[in-house]
Amino acid sequence: MKNIVLTGFMGSGKSAVGAELARLTGFSLLEVDDEIERTAGMSISEIFGRFGEERFRDMEAAEIRKLAGTTDTVISTGGGVVMREDNMAVLRRDGVVVYLRAEPATLLERTSRDSDRPLLRCDDPLGRINELLAQRKEQYEKADMIVDTDDKGPEGVAREILRRLGWKR
Ligand code: S3P
Repeated sequence: MKNIVLTGFMGSGKSAVGAELARLTGFSLLEVDDEIERTAGMSISEIFGRFGEERFRDMEAAEIRKLAGTTDTVISTGGGVVMREDNMAVLRRDGVVVYLRAEPATLLERTSRDSDRPLLRCDDPLGRINELLAQRKEQYEKADMIVDTDDKGPEGVAREILRRLGWKR
C-alpha cells in the first residue's frame, strides 16, 4: 500500500503522530532525520554546525532518493523537506502526503521542550518560526491532506488521518 508521508514544521508532531500511525496500521516507521544521522554518523546539530544548512539539505535529498520504491511505511520527514521539489516528487510517487498544521504559538511551545533544532537556536524563535512558515506555507499546503493539530494529541491526529484516508484494516 501507499506510504503515509508526514510533513509539517518543527514541532508539528510528525514523530509522535508517525509512531501512532505505525502502531495503528502495522506499517513500518521511517524517520528521515534518523536516517540522515545514521548515514552521516553524527547528529543533525553537528551536521549544521560543521557543514552548514546547504550540505544538510543535500544529505536530506540523498536520503529521500533512497526511499523510491518503498511501500507500506509511515515516513516522518524533517520540516524543511518541502523546499526541494525533487524531494516531494519522490515522496508523492509512492505516498499520500499529509501536512500537520499548527499555529506558530503551538510550534514554539512544542519546540521549546527540546534543543536539537539548530534553525530555532536564536534570540527570537517565534519570529524565526513565522519567517520560515511564510517561506514554506505554499509548499506545505500542496499536501494531499491538511490536518490541524492544535489542541489534539498524537493518537487523535493519527486516527483522524486514517478516517479521512478511509483506512480499513
Ligand atoms: C528542519 C527540521 C528538523 C531537521 C532540521 C531542519 C527544518 O526536523 O530536519 O533541523 O528545516 O525545519 P523536524 O521537523 O523533525 O524537527
